[in-house]
Amino acid sequence: MALKVGIVGMRGIGMAHADAHQSDELSELVAVCDVIKQRADEGAEKYGVKAYYTVADMLDGEPDLQIVDVCTGGMENGSWHYEPTMEAIGAGKHVLVEKPLSNDIEEAREMVAFATDEDVYLGCNLNHYFTEVAARAKQYVDEGDIGEQIYCLHKMGFSGGEPEGYKAPQAARVKGFPWFHAKAFLAHPFSCMRYFCGDITHVQAFCNRPGFRKRVEELLVSTLSIHVRFENDCVGYLISQRGDAAYGLGGWWSLELAGTKGTFCIENCIEKLTYWRAPSAPPRPEKLDTGKIEGPEIMDTGIADFGATFPRRIHAFLEDVTNGVPKEQLRGSGRDALATLEYTWAVIDSYENGGEIVRPNPIPILKGDPLTQND
Ligand SMILES: NC(=O)c1ccc[n+]([C@@H]2O[C@H](COP(=O)([O-])OP(=O)(O)OC[C@H]3O[C@@H](n4cnc5c(N)ncnc54)[C@H](O)[C@@H]3O)[C@@H](O)[C@H]2O)c1
Repeated sequence: MALKVGIVGMRGIGMAHADAHQSDELSELVAVCDVIKQRADEGAEKYGVKAYYTVADMLDGEPDLQIVDVCTGGMENGSWHYEPTMEAIGAGKHVLVEKPLSNDIEEAREMVAFATDEDVYLGCNLNHYFTEVAARAKQYVDEGDIGEQIYCLHKMGFSGGEPEGYKAPQAARVKGFPWFHAKAFLAHPFSCMRYFCGDITHVQAFCNRPGFRKRVEELLVSTLSIHVRFENDCVGYLISQRGDAAYGLGGWWSLELAGTKGTFCIENCIEKLTYWRAPSAPPRPEKLDTGKIEGPEIMDTGIADFGATFPRRIHAFLEDVTNGVPKEQLRGSGRDALATLEYTWAVIDSYENGGEIVRPNPIPILKGDPLTQND
């Protein structure tokens, strides 16, 4: 039976989630909520569901609701996630919340702990790796086609450059927040790196803002150059920038994971995957022989629209809840999202301490369920 869903926050992203729920047979959208009445009413009319103006009223008015999908934003795109999420968890509902979990690390830790205590699913919209190309790439990893992981190179950000007569953004969510880009966005690239390579144990960051931002005294730290080490000893590099420079190769984002048995590269997020098997004979660099490369294998989906990640990711959450998977197996969980925030805080810490190496706060251990895992 379809899961009854209510959405909180009915602007651009809330609408994208509503579209996904409406076209998913595992979901029955029954209510929408926004503190701005007009937005709730327009959403309710468009999707033929009931409008609410507070989360408390929605929870009271819809006792059969099973999932609350939190699509609010706020300062640094995350200051309005905590309250609706905690209210919904407190009412025993499963929650899917937009990224970042919060713009405050303490709140994010509390959200994850509260969902565990209340034994509900807390998922986060870490949508970037819910794609066909990422699924195939993960298969290469799981089936040994990458081998021992050597390095992971990830480039994810926004295309831009110096515009004529540049003016600093004035939106309340951005203005005056140096770490807006780090807090609002790094959940995406860090979640992709962690999906393929596992936990990050060391972080070192060098950051900057270009001259056109400095000249207007904008505080945004917009170029983030991040060097990491994973628990499995693989090393990695993430460059993320918010419109400081034009995209280069790989489009919206690219990720290359190289290993002793092979290497893959995802280009343009959802569009293309290339896999190169390691040369069967070792290279002889002293003879200028770089090794014989077979292939490569290419998967070209022809999909360039990143919007296609939303229904795929939301469907995965609905599937996991419908199937009642053990909480620790939830894909794109609150815990996964918390890990990305811990890395983000380590980036800030490293930069503010002159690029020193920071060990991110470990995410809470998995405790397991004595009712289902007692052997
Ligand atoms: N996963 C992705 O790819 C992706 C892409 C873009 C944005 N986002 C995230 O989506 C979220 C929403 O983005 P947006 O641009 O639609 O935000 P927005 O701020 O434009 O809209 C949020 C809406 O939530 C409402 N709201 C806030 N607090 C509320 C509350 N307590 N109860 C009811 N309504 C409340 C606001 O009135 C507003 O209409 C952000 O957190 C952003 O980071 C995710």
